[in-house]
Amino acid sequence: MAEIRIRNTNERISGEANVKAFLDKQEVLYEHWNAAKLPAELQGKFSLTDEEKSQILATFDEEIRDLASRRGYQTWDIVALSDATPNLDELLKKFEQVHTHTEDEVRAITAGKGIFIIKGTDDVGYFDVELEAGDVISVPEHKPHFFTLMENRQIVAVRLFIETEGWIAHPFEDPTFQKA
Ligand SMILES: [Fe+2]
Repeated sequence: MAEIRIRNTNERISGEANVKAFLDKQEVLYEHWNAAKLPAELQGKFSLTDEEKSQILATFDEEIRDLASRRGYQTWDIVALSDATPNLDELLKKFEQVHTHTEDEVRAITAGKGIFIIKGTDDVGYFDVELEAGDVISVPEHKPHFFTLMENRQIVAVRLFIETEGWIAHPFEDPTFQKA
């Protein structure tokens, strides 16, 4: 289940209802899928063949189509990151820049963990959303954020797009952002 950390105060918010209420206020969509539906051998696999990616998409086909029909997503795919990913450190460096997109950024975590760092309302400031398998999040369009991995450096997620071009990252220069 997702957990929130507010960077300015180090306050943590946990429990599905609390997390959902906080994210609702920040206009961040949060839902949950049953990650246990995934065959056991895929729950801990982070280096995937095309066949395995298709198997994950097929497992969550109903959830994907439900989300897509409610929110207008047209295409979806699987992203897998781990130490087996070539140039993972370079990739993470590129990810860890605050940016925006012209469409929302949707991720449904099917294995592993990850963090979205999001710029909240002025009273909250930046907050982390720590995600694990089953967590589904959508960062709204034009909302400054970035994504990174957690200590285990392993994640598999479904990405959904309205148009693939909408997902181009636009750097967001923010002197108030402090790392860590
Ligand atoms: Fe992004």
